[in-house]
Amino acid sequence: MHKIIQILLSIISVSLLFDSLYASSSDPAPLILSCGSTGGGKDADGRKWDSDSKYFTSNNSTSEKATYQDPSLPSDVPYMSARIFTSEATYKLPVKSGNRYWVRLHFYPSTYGSLDPADAYFSVVAGSITLLKNFSTSVTAQALTQAYLVKEYSLAPLESDFVNITFAPSDKHSGAYAFVNGIELIPIPDLFDSALMVGFSDQPVDAKAANLQTMYRLNVGGQYIPPNNDSGALTRTWYDDTPYLYGAVAGVTNEADKKVEIQYNDLPDYVAPVDVYRTARSMGYDKNLNRNYNLTWQFQVDANFTYLVRMHFCDYFCTKVNQRVFNIYINNQVAQEAADVIGWASEQGVPVYKDYAIFVSDGKGDEQVTIMMNPSVTADPPPEYYDALLNGLEIFKISDAAENLAGPNPEPSEMLIKAEAEAAAKASEAKAFTSSTASNVKLISGAAGGAAAFGALAAICITVYVKKKRVPGTESHTTSWLPISGFSHTAGSKSHASAASHLSSEAQCLSRRFSLYEIKQATKNFNESYVIGVGGFGKVYKGVIDKTMKVAIKRSNPSSEQGVNEFQTEVEMLSKLRHKHLVSLIGYCEEDNEMCLVYDYMARGTMREHIYKGNNTPLSWKQRLEICIGAARGLHYLHTGARYTIIHRDVKTTNILLDENWVAKVSDFGLSKTGPNMDKGHVSTVVKGSFGYLDPEYFRRQQLTEKSDVYSFGVVLFEVLCARPALNPSLPKEQVSLADWALHCQRKGILEDIIDPQLKGKINPECLKKFAETAEKCLSEHGLERPSMGDVLWNLEFALQMQDNGDGSGHSSRRAGSNVSEEVAPRLDLNSLSIGSEHELDQDSDDMNAVFSQIVNPKGR
Ligand SMILES: *[C@@H]1O[C@H](CO)[C@@H](O)[C@H](O)[C@H]1NC(C)=O
Ligand SMILES: *[C@@H]1O[C@H](CO)[C@@H](O)[C@H](O)[C@H]1NC(C)=O
Ligand SMILES: *[C@@H]1O[C@H](CO)[C@@H](O)[C@H](O)[C@H]1NC(C)=O
Ligand SMILES: *[C@@H]1O[C@H](CO)[C@@H](O)[C@H](O)[C@H]1NC(C)=O
Ligand SMILES: *[C@@H]1O[C@H](CO)[C@@H](O)[C@H](O)[C@H]1NC(C)=O
Ligand SMILES: *[C@@H]1O[C@H](CO)[C@@H](O)[C@H](O)[C@H]1NC(C)=O
Ligand SMILES: *[C@@H]1O[C@H](CO)[C@@H](O)[C@H](O)[C@H]1NC(C)=O
Ligand SMILES: *[C@@H]1O[C@H](CO)[C@@H](O)[C@H](O)[C@H]1NC(C)=O
Ligand SMILES: *[C@@H]1O[C@H](CO)[C@@H](O)[C@H](O)[C@H]1NC(C)=O
Repeated sequence: MHKIIQILLSIISVSLLFDSLYASSSDPAPLILSCGSTGGGKDADGRKWDSDSKYFTSNNSTSEKATYQDPSLPSDVPYMSARIFTSEATYKLPVKSGNRYWVRLHFYPSTYGSLDPADAYFSVVAGSITLLKNFSTSVTAQALTQAYLVKEYSLAPLESDFVNITFAPSDKHSGAYAFVNGIELIPIPDLFDSALMVGFSDQPVDAKAANLQTMYRLNVGGQYIPPNNDSGALTRTWYDDTPYLYGAVAGVTNEADKKVEIQYNDLPDYVAPVDVYRTARSMGYDKNLNRNYNLTWQFQVDANFTYLVRMHFCDYFCTKVNQRVFNIYINNQVAQEAADVIGWASEQGVPVYKDYAIFVSDGKGDEQVTIMMNPSVTADPPPEYYDALLNGLEIFKISDAAENLAGPNPEPSEMLIKAEAEAAAKASEAKAFTSSTASNVKLISGAAGGAAAFGALAAICITVYVKKKRVPGTESHTTSWLPISGFSHTAGSKSHASAASHLSSEAQCLSRRFSLYEIKQATKNFNESYVIGVGGFGKVYKGVIDKTMKVAIKRSNPSSEQGVNEFQTEVEMLSKLRHKHLVSLIGYCEEDNEMCLVYDYMARGTMREHIYKGNNTPLSWKQRLEICIGAARGLHYLHTGARYTIIHRDVKTTNILLDENWVAKVSDFGLSKTGPNMDKGHVSTVVKGSFGYLDPEYFRRQQLTEKSDVYSFGVVLFEVLCARPALNPSLPKEQVSLADWALHCQRKGILEDIIDPQLKGKINPECLKKFAETAEKCLSEHGLERPSMGDVLWNLEFALQMQDNGDGSGHSSRRAGSNVSEEVAPRLDLNSLSIGSEHELDQDSDDMNAVFSQIVNPKGR
C-alpha cells in the first residue's frame, strides 16, 4: 500500500515537474487538507477540505475522531478528525517553485482514542524551517483559553516542487505524540519587501525572502473580517483591535463617509480588504488632550526575534498635506517622524502601508511590541489637527538565523489560573448542591474560545488586566472605582472588586458621562414619584435630559456589590453595542459614590406587562409575534453580530422592553458574559439568571453557551403564547414550571388547551404549529440540539408570514419589527411601566426552593 502511494507520489512528482517546466504560467492550486479524515468535507464557510491520506507516509500513524465536540468549534471539518503520529512522519506536499505560500496548521486538543491530550508534545518542520518545537497544544490552548488553535506561517518561495512538513513527537517527554487536524497550503503573491529597522534606519531588513509567522492581524477601529471576506482570496482573518489598546485613553473609531471611495491606485487590492481602509482609530477631537497622550497598542510576543510591523493607513477625512501629522514609536523608539498619510498617498481615500522591523530582545518577564502614536506638534507651520491615524496592523515574526520560528509555550496568566481555581471551587460547591447530576459536571478549562489568534497571545486581555500600569502622562481624568471588564470569569464574585481598576477607556469614549447634578436635575433629586421600576441593581427613574430627551436612569444601590459588577459589565457591553433591538445606553454617571446608567426611555415598558401582568389591553397575536421577532433579532446580534459572542444570560419577558413604536429591545446586560477571544465559545461560570428560564444543561455542567439564551428564549415564546409566568408556584406541581408543562402539552398534542384564552381562535393553525415547534426545539435538553438564534428568527418570521397569509389581511409583505402602532393602540398606563423590574420574582421567591429540584432535574422530558 505504502509502496503504491510512493509510486503514485513519484508519478505526481514527475508530472508536476513537467507542469512547472511547460506550464509555469498556470496558477498553483491551494491544498486544504482535513487530516485523518477519509473523505474530507466542507467547513462552516463552505470551503472544501480534502483527505490528507495521499500526501503522507509513515508507518506509525493512525487517524482518530475526537471524543468530545466543543461547542465553540466552527464546524466538524477539520477539527473532529485528526492524524496522530507516534513517531516522526512527513507530509510531502506539491508546491510551485518560486511561489510564496501560507501554511496554516489547525489543532484541536481533545482526547483521541486512549491518548492523553496533555501528552501531545511535538515539533513541526516545514522545509528547513522549524515552525514549532516542544509544542504542547493543551498548554497553549489553556493559556489562550481557546478550544482550538490555528497557526499561520508564510513560507518564502521554495526552489523545489515539494515541501516536506514533518511532525515529530518530542523526545523530552515520555509518551509524547504528535497530531494535526488540518493543513492549508495556499499560494499567495509576494506580500513582503524590505522594511526599515527601527532605530537603524540605514539598515533595511529584507523580508522578500523571509519566512514569517503571523502574530496579529487587526482591522483597527473596525470589525472582525472573516476569511471569506478577505481580499485577493488570501483567506486571512482580521480582528478588532480593542483588546490590544493600552492606557486610559483609547482614541475614537470612525468610518469613511459613504461618498468617499477607497481607491487602491498602484497598490494591489490583496494587500488588505477595503473594510480595513474604511475604518480607523484616531485620537479624538480634543486638541489639548491629544497633545498629552499617546495612542497606544500593546502586543505580547516571543523574545529573541525580529518582528515585521506592517501599518495600513488610509486618510478618508483629510484632503491636504500638513493637516494630520503624527509620530510613530515602536517599543519607545522613533519608527517614523512626521507621518502624513496624505503626503504619502497624495490623495484622500488612497491606501498606503508602511513596514517597520523591530528586534525584541530577552528581558525580564513578558516581551512586548508596543506601538505609540502622538501628534507631531513641532512641524512649522504646525498641522491643522493634532491627531494620529491607524487603519490596520499586522505583526509578523521573522525566522531567526537558525531558521527557527518556534517560541516557548505560553504560560497561563496568574489571573487565569486563579479564576479557574475559583470556578472549579464554585463548581464543586454547586456539585454538592445538585448531587444527583454531579458526575456530569465537566469543567472545560476556561472559556473555550475560538477562532485563530495566530499563536498570538490572545490571552492578552488578561495580561493587560494584570499588568495594566499607568503610562505617564495618560492619567485619566475620571477617577473611577470601576473594574475593567475585558475578561471576567467571575463577575459577581469578590475577586473582581478587589482587583478594581478602571472602566475601560473605550467605554468611556463611547458613552457620555453625566454629572450628578445633571442626573439630579433630570430626576428632581431622585424623587420617588419618578421611580418606574426596581431591580436587583437598584431603582429605575424616568427623567428628562437636555430639556427634551426622555431617559430611564438606573441608580445603583451602593451597598450591593453585585450591583457594582453588573453596572460595570453593563457599561462595558452596552457602550460598544448599537442595534435597533438592543436598549441603547446613552451614558453613565459616577460621582460621590453614586453610579447611574442612563438609557433611552422605553415608553411602553416591559413585554410581560403587555401580555399578562399590568392593566394593559393584551396584545394581538401578530403584535406578539413581531415583538418576539424583534427580541430574537437583538439576541441574534448579541450572539453573532459583534466581534465577540455575547451571551445575555438573563433572557426573560421583563428584560424585553418596548419603545413607543412597539419596537422590542433587549435590555439588562448586567449578567452578560463575553471573552476577548470567546468566538462562539462557552464559559465555565457560576450559574446566574432567573429561575424558570434557566437552561438545565447550563445548570448541570456550569457551561455557558449561547444556547442557554436560546433555551430561555424558548420559555419566553411559551410565555407569550400561554400568557402565564415561567414559574407559578400556586399551580399544581406538574404545571409550576411553564417549560415542563408546555413541553408536556406540546408532546401530548394538547397545547391548544393552555394557550392564552384571548388568542383562542385567532392564531392561524399553521402559524401556531410553526411557533410551537420552534419553542419546543429551543427547550431541547441538550444545547447542541437547540437551534441557533438565527434559525429561531427565521422560523418566527416564517410563522408570521403564515399568520399574515391566513389572516386575509392583505398586508402580508410587511417586515417584522416594523411600526405596528397603527394596528392597535392599547391603553397606556404609565404607572405600571417598569424597566428591568424584578419585583415579581421576589414575590415568588419563597416558593423557589420547592420548585428548584424540578428545574435541576427535569424528569419526564
Ligand atoms: C514501514 O516499515 C517497513 C517494514 O517495517 C519498511 O520497509 C518501510 O520502509 C517503512 N515505511 C516507512 C515510510 O517508514
Ligand atoms: C514505529 O514504532 C515502533 C515502536 O514504537 C518503532 O520501533 C518503529 O521504529 C516505528 N517505525 C517508524 C517507521 O518510525
Ligand atoms: C522530503 O523528504 C524526503 C524523504 O521523506 C526526501 O527524500 C526529500 O529530499 C525531501 N524533500 C525536500 C525538498 O526536503
Ligand atoms: C462578508 O461579505 C458579505 C458579502 O459582501 C457581507 O454580506 C457580510 O456582511 C460580510 N461579513 C462581514 C463580517 O463583514
Ligand atoms: C535569547 O537569547 C539570549 C542570548 O542568546 C539567551 O540567553 C536567552 O535565553 C534567549 N531567550 C529565549 C527566550 O530564548
Ligand atoms: C509618547 O511616547 C513617546 C515614545 O515613548 C514619548 O517620547 C513621549 O513622551 C510620549 N508622549 C506622551 C505625551 O506621553
Ligand atoms: C516544553 O514545554 C513545557 C511546557 O511549556 C515546559 O515545561 C518544558 O520546560 C519545555 N521543554 C523544553 C525542553 O523546552
Ligand atoms: C416629589 O415630587 C412631587 C410631585 O412633583 C412633589 O409633590 C413632592 O414634594 C416631591 N418630593 C420631594 C421629596 O421632593
Ligand atoms: C409609527 O407610527 C406612528 C403613528 O402612525 C408615527 O408617528 C411614527 O413616526 C411611526 N414610527 C416609525 C418608526 O415608523
